[in-house]
Amino acid sequence: METILIEKDCLEQAAEIIKRGGLVAMPTETVYGLAADALNGAAVAKIFAAKGRPMDNPLIVHIADLSQWDGLVREVPEKARILAETFWPGPLTIILPKADCIPDEVSAGLDTVAVRFPSHPVAQELIRRSVPLAAPSANLSGSPSPTNARHVWDDMNGRIDAVINGDDCAVGVESTVITLASDPPRVLRPGGVTVEQLREAIGEVTVDSAVLQPLQSGEQAASPGMKYKHYSPRARIVLLNGPEQAFVDYVNRHAGEGIAALCYEEEIPALNVPVISIGAENDYAQQANRLFTALREVDERGFRLAYAHCPDTEGMGLAVYNRMIRAAGFEVIDLEA
Ligand code: TXA
Ligand code: MG
Repeated sequence: METILIEKDCLEQAAEIIKRGGLVAMPTETVYGLAADALNGAAVAKIFAAKGRPMDNPLIVHIADLSQWDGLVREVPEKARILAETFWPGPLTIILPKADCIPDEVSAGLDTVAVRFPSHPVAQELIRRSVPLAAPSANLSGSPSPTNARHVWDDMNGRIDAVINGDDCAVGVESTVITLASDPPRVLRPGGVTVEQLREAIGEVTVDSAVLQPLQSGEQAASPGMKYKHYSPRARIVLLNGPEQAFVDYVNRHAGEGIAALCYEEEIPALNVPVISIGAENDYAQQANRLFTALREVDERGFRLAYAHCPDTEGMGLAVYNRMIRAAGFEVIDLEA
């Protein structure tokens, strides 16, 4: 299939492709999404084929007007309404029992549907010119999510109809996913809206155990996406948990051919290996913004192993930690303090 590049001020063409049942990669404020008409099961099925995504992993439906939400879910309860008023448009995905119109391809056989109202003007305009869009991240299944049009092109050229040539994504990690189909509401994936912000808006919110740990054997994934190996470069990533000096010492002791450090800006001068910085130690938003580009860079520069400093879990740090520990396949070394 020939993939075309569409400039962001020529969205009519992208909307036509969607309405014909095709696939278009679009920028959002979190990561690029691979979009199809959410109510066209055959179109949605093509997303799974293009990404190599397991069919039991459900998709998020993107809307550009609150009124579209009502048709997609059975009802919108009070807490959901508050979350939408507080965080939409923006990087929050809300799961509720689904309406009958949602194809099985979108919900992957679950009786719920995930909905998000993105803040990105290009995503909004594409939805307004077409229909609500089912869209996972526009990467090949398992690889780091794309945060610029080039990442999408590298993964998807020849597999989809079009890529919209938009800007780099501002948030850089995917949306926070919260389910209101259980009580109390539960975060299934941390992201651009923090757990602290959610609690401030609606009170008690729990965090699914799969956010921080691998699924235990026999455990059912509340969010099917959590059970797959994710965000992984081809290189091996090993997380080192400990203070800055211990991190630097460990990496320098293990320096060698093909080995790099995924580190904080402040650590660069002390490291004796090639470095890829994910940002300043206390700037979680910057780390989120750079993380996926940094993970791709590990492969682009041909490293076989990168030691990464284990991120903090406060605020948006939790989203960075959640992605990083999956990229590392949960391989963590605890350093002595
Ligand atoms: O920021 C984002 O959310 C991006 C942009 C494109 O909007 N999209 C995204 O989609 O990250 P995806 O498919 O890569 O991740 C969606 C996650 C998966 O882990 C999936 O299992 C979960 O949300 N999910 C979707 N629908 C669900 C449902 N009904 N119940 C539980 N988990 C669900
Ligand atoms: Mg994804």
